[in-house]
Amino acid sequence: MRVGVELISCLSLAIGALGAAQSNVPWPAIPKPQHADSPNGPVHVYPSSVRKGLSSDFVNGSSGNALVFQSVGDTYTLDYGSDVAGKPIFHVQVAEGNPQIEVKYTEAFPGLLKPEGDGPFAFANGLAATFRVETFNITKTGDFTGYFIQGSQRWQSIKLISGKKLVIKRAGFVSSVDQSSLNSMPGYFASSNSTYTDIWALGPRTQQLACYPPESQSSTWEITSKGAYIRGQKPATTARVVNLSNYTLSFETLIDRGGTGWRVDTEIDAIQATGPIFVLTSEYPSGSFANIDTTLLPPNTLILGRGWSLQNQTSLPGYVLDKFPLKFNVTEKTWHTIRTESPGDDTYTVYLDDQRIAHFNISSYGLADPNPYIPGGVYKSFAFGPWQDQAAYVRNVNATLSTGENVYSNPMTSNDVLIEYGVQTNSQYTCSDSGKRDRFSWLGDRLISARTVMVASQQGEYVWGPAEEAFSRQVGSGQIPINTLFSPLDAEGTLIRTTNVDPLIVDYEFDFMQVIYDYWVRSGNDTFLEKAWPRMVMTTSYALARSLDQKTQLFGAPYGSAGTPLSGEKGQALGPANTVSMIIGLERMAEMARFVGDDDAAAFYQTQAQLSRTAIDTLLWDETAGYYAATVGGTGYDLMDIAQVLLAGIGSEQRQASFVEKLSTLQVPAGYINGTRFFDTPGVVDAYYMSFLLEGLAATKRTKLAQDLLDATWAPMVHRDRNYTGGYWEYISTDGTYPGLDLFTGMSHFWGSYPTVFLSEYALGIRPTKPGYTTFLFAPLPDFKTEWVHGRVPTPSGLIYAAWGYNKQGKVVLEITAPAGLQGTFVPPFSGRYSVGSQQGLSGNHTIAGGATVVIVEE
Ligand SMILES: *[C@@H]1O[C@H](CO)[C@@H](O)[C@H](O)[C@H]1NC(C)=O
Ligand SMILES: *[C@@H]1O[C@H](CO)[C@@H](O)[C@H](O)[C@H]1NC(C)=O
Ligand SMILES: *[C@@H]1O[C@H](CO)[C@@H](O)[C@H](O)[C@H]1NC(C)=O
Ligand SMILES: *[C@@H]1O[C@H](CO)[C@@H](O)[C@H](O)[C@H]1NC(C)=O
Ligand SMILES: *[C@@H]1O[C@H](CO)[C@@H](O)[C@H](O)[C@H]1NC(C)=O
Ligand SMILES: *[C@@H]1O[C@H](CO)[C@@H](O)[C@H](O)[C@H]1NC(C)=O
Ligand SMILES: *[C@@H]1O[C@H](CO)[C@@H](O)[C@H](O)[C@H]1NC(C)=O
Ligand SMILES: *[C@@H]1O[C@H](CO)[C@@H](O)[C@H](O)[C@H]1NC(C)=O
Ligand SMILES: *[C@@H]1O[C@H](CO)[C@@H](O)[C@H](O)[C@H]1NC(C)=O
Ligand SMILES: *[C@@H]1O[C@H](CO)[C@@H](O)[C@H](O)[C@H]1NC(C)=O
Ligand SMILES: *[C@@H]1O[C@H](CO)[C@@H](O)[C@H](O)[C@H]1NC(C)=O
Repeated sequence: MRVGVELISCLSLAIGALGAAQSNVPWPAIPKPQHADSPNGPVHVYPSSVRKGLSSDFVNGSSGNALVFQSVGDTYTLDYGSDVAGKPIFHVQVAEGNPQIEVKYTEAFPGLLKPEGDGPFAFANGLAATFRVETFNITKTGDFTGYFIQGSQRWQSIKLISGKKLVIKRAGFVSSVDQSSLNSMPGYFASSNSTYTDIWALGPRTQQLACYPPESQSSTWEITSKGAYIRGQKPATTARVVNLSNYTLSFETLIDRGGTGWRVDTEIDAIQATGPIFVLTSEYPSGSFANIDTTLLPPNTLILGRGWSLQNQTSLPGYVLDKFPLKFNVTEKTWHTIRTESPGDDTYTVYLDDQRIAHFNISSYGLADPNPYIPGGVYKSFAFGPWQDQAAYVRNVNATLSTGENVYSNPMTSNDVLIEYGVQTNSQYTCSDSGKRDRFSWLGDRLISARTVMVASQQGEYVWGPAEEAFSRQVGSGQIPINTLFSPLDAEGTLIRTTNVDPLIVDYEFDFMQVIYDYWVRSGNDTFLEKAWPRMVMTTSYALARSLDQKTQLFGAPYGSAGTPLSGEKGQALGPANTVSMIIGLERMAEMARFVGDDDAAAFYQTQAQLSRTAIDTLLWDETAGYYAATVGGTGYDLMDIAQVLLAGIGSEQRQASFVEKLSTLQVPAGYINGTRFFDTPGVVDAYYMSFLLEGLAATKRTKLAQDLLDATWAPMVHRDRNYTGGYWEYISTDGTYPGLDLFTGMSHFWGSYPTVFLSEYALGIRPTKPGYTTFLFAPLPDFKTEWVHGRVPTPSGLIYAAWGYNKQGKVVLEITAPAGLQGTFVPPFSGRYSVGSQQGLSGNHTIAGGATVVIVEE
């Protein structure tokens, strides 16, 4: 896993005391990567501050203090300083009178003030806790470990809700993510301005929080000889039988505590959640958790819900439609049989032990109907998962058609169940959207973050690994799922789950081809490319067939991601944003096709890309208004159109300049927001879109706009207040003061991590021009405002050490040491002459050979 580091230590020996002789340069010596200790066994992480009561005040020296709970209501706040992840662990010293504790988790501090923490996260069953509040029964002294991984949090609170006395010597997490020091990473960047040093470091830490090695994210179900033991979580769905109509689902269930839960006719892993939610509560015998919300969940009741869960969470609505009180007690620790009849006319009838307990028509409530504009989710099935803090066994599941034919029968005692329901421990390298939320492996999010991986940690397994995961889920049409579970899947699960997200966000398929190209260029891994090539061709064919509008040659798929309204008209040809995704994808494919010797494919991709380039420039340019319109003959544009036009270099420089001027109309303190048609949560700045824009501005040498954007969007993320996590945020409020989706915001979110790449590739200025950096540029952005920057950029041949800054005369001085065999082109960030060693009066570009330190001074 850490091959890179070993390579580097050899290389640093060869380089020797690099930078030490540079007493006349403004930057300090560039450090070498530190040795990474591989831990033996699990790593525990502990808070840096422990405080009685609910407060974000840091208490110096308190981290080792015991937590002493003397009476019900006593609460402690634990601050880990920045995000951590894992299973909570409690070293219990005293436990008198059956203590119960309520434990809450959140990234931003205000989550501790809410009953739900910063959750629940009911979007995916992503091999972690759905709920951000957990209740534990502490029955004895010694170590107690929670069952679920909590995906990322800086803050934790622990409250005694029942019992006499509890002393926890220490509380922490058994880490589920890589805790190795960032100093051991091969990549590195620092600046005289520590804001930039800190922003760069968000990248490698976010990688640790969002990218996981095989076997690290543990299963959320337990299979026993008595059936599947399922703790409270988002119900997980089978894909073995789909779209049943006029049938009965029956199963046996034993409530271990609180209640049991299931769904029927609900979309499989899709962007909708419309089938009914059922939660059946028990009689709550004595010893039940003292904090049960009996308003939401009265005892002996069937609660009917719809949507994502029984609670609302930002963009994931949840509904409680009805409650059916039972006239008898629902006992725990005994087996019950539940039958749910779904005749297919929106009515449902539920029986408990042969007694009818509910009958209703789900559409009669008039809530949570499927959103007709969101595609996918054509496959529906049933799912199991109780509510928060409940736990139940499920066994002998049957689905029987009204004709009497049994179409599904499962005792739920075999380990295959975990794969069938998508809840098995991950077996591949995978990357999540975020540590805590949307724990799906999303394809397009890697467009930015895969480069962050290569520039900072060089852990290519977090690019080729998730790529192999994606290819392993490709279906015959060539489609790759734009999001997928971390769990291993069987063949039929793959087919159903992949096609269920067709044709959502087709541009991600093109983006994925860019990811592979970006990885290839930075790793020089030809083997990977050659192996993946046939599947890449299939993917591109699928994406073209799904999205190319033959009439206009523009991207015409419904529901693209990059600036496309989700509510847009199906099949309408769309503007520059999505079309550029296609163009760059095709052009990268053409380059890779030439490498693998597939010249016909190269010519085809190149020709198509050119047609689409011309289409944008001729069909969308509005000469009077001075912008590329969002639709043919339409008006309006958004920042993604501008970003993508710059990235692909569409049109003349004059047209680009005129388009860039429109940015000012979209400006807010934290960056830029949508124009006239853009669909996203209103009132937020999206770090993913800002990443595209930052790169577009950098690639066209618009240094001031780029640096202003860097400061506006990302500097707030390194501000060390109670919302600091050490990770990149998904969104930021338009005023730049808080995470944009509030507590829902992923605050270790990898998609908007471009600044790490920007600082290495444009501020420091080291960019590959041929695979493996055999040729590269040393081309810092002119006029980037700082006194100095320095860093290391990993290449497959070893590290490039580089630096620049201003000397006492105010002239730019630069230094670079590249591994032997690599050849750099120095592109001066100033217009005048310069010296390289003893050669004076040079101008224009200069070739730098690897193997020696080269010092360049502006004259
Ligand atoms: C905590 O105390 C130590 C020792 O007194 C001191 O060096 C350190 O700066 C303090 N840290 C903070 C965050 O106040
Ligand atoms: C129902 O449960 C409640 C609470 O545990 C208990 O007090 C009551 O006796 C039970 N009723 C029957 C009929 O078992
Ligand atoms: C907690 O443990 C006590 C003692 O073993 C037991 O009586 C009680 O039922 C347990 N409660 C839950 C909710 O598991
Ligand atoms: C969630 O929000 C919707 C819309 O505001 C509302 O109708 C619904 O009742 C809310 N659900 C819950 C569980 O409060
Ligand atoms: C379901 O099947 C039954 C028995 O075959 C039939 O009577 C009934 O009409 C069907 N219901 C629907 C909604 O098709
Ligand atoms: C229900 O499932 C069990 C185990 O999967 C099976 O043995 C049984 O025959 C099924 N019952 C019916 C009525 O289909
Ligand atoms: C190239 O990619 C393959 C995965 O296809 C991987 O196994 C191998 O380790 C990679 N090679 C390098 C040098 O990173
Ligand atoms: C951004 O989009 C939202 C929702 O469509 C809209 O309400 C808002 O006015 C737009 N903002 C700008 C600056 O166009
Ligand atoms: C460092 O950068 C931040 C963000 O751009 C800026 O606010 C600050 O003034 C800079 N500090 C110095 C010393 O230049
Ligand atoms: C922190 O984040 C929360 C939630 O988004 C926000 O309400 C608050 O204003 C932010 N800032 C501070 C200092 O708490
Ligand atoms: C210097 O190199 C850059 C980057 O490759 C290139 O764009 C530019 O044309 C070169 N300048 C000259 C004078 O060759």
